[in-house]
Amino acid sequence: MSPGRYLAVEGTEGVGKTTLNRLLTDRLNERGVEVVRVREPGGTPLGEQIRSLLLHGDDMADWTEALLFAAQRSELVTRVIRPALSQGKWVLSDRCFYSSLAYQGYARGLGVSRVWSVNAPALGGTLPDLVVWLETDHGAALLRQEQPDRIGSEDASVHLQVWKGYRSVWTTDRERTLRMDGGRSPQHSVAVLVSVLEERGWLGPC
Ligand code: TYD
Repeated sequence: MSPGRYLAVEGTEGVGKTTLNRLLTDRLNERGVEVVRVREPGGTPLGEQIRSLLLHGDDMADWTEALLFAAQRSELVTRVIRPALSQGKWVLSDRCFYSSLAYQGYARGLGVSRVWSVNAPALGGTLPDLVVWLETDHGAALLRQEQPDRIGSEDASVHLQVWKGYRSVWTTDRERTLRMDGGRSPQHSVAVLVSVLEERGWLGPC
């Protein structure tokens, strides 16, 4: 059995993470790869309940927010991601712990390493094999958001901090991370991504 792979797409709101994952799912399915799609926050019954607290619930303290993100991540990794990988499936995720580093660690000012320190035990060593950051002008991406949620409707200055957060955490892990131009078409992005997966030897021949 060829090994499963865990890929996540990151970026500010409205940048096209879901579209890229949908197109990549199609391309992988065409090549016989079984894909499990997940999103953060969410992806499990309890995780979806935590999602509605986080995105549509009352205001909360910054650490409450950070810990709820870590909690839903623990559920997702334990109940969905790890079992899928052990069956040789690929997992494609909208967002992963990098969102917590950028939003809670950097933009909320909790500290990137302190936020990582509560996520590491939640992940239990199951980290994405590759995280794609769709980088774009953060203002342009926000305009594409249909219904901003509790976090999406924050001030533009918070979103600028998130973008700076991605930039600052991105330089630390070059093996695991890939920065892509979020201003290009999703078709172009998926073609680039598939060629990266081929170069890494993760995909068999067509
Ligand atoms: P969602 O609608 O799922 O994503 P998007 O807006 O990218 O389409 O919203 C998720 C929101 O939660 C988004 O504002 C980013 C935020 N978030 C964090 O602040 N920390 C995290 O760890 C995660 C996973 C998301």
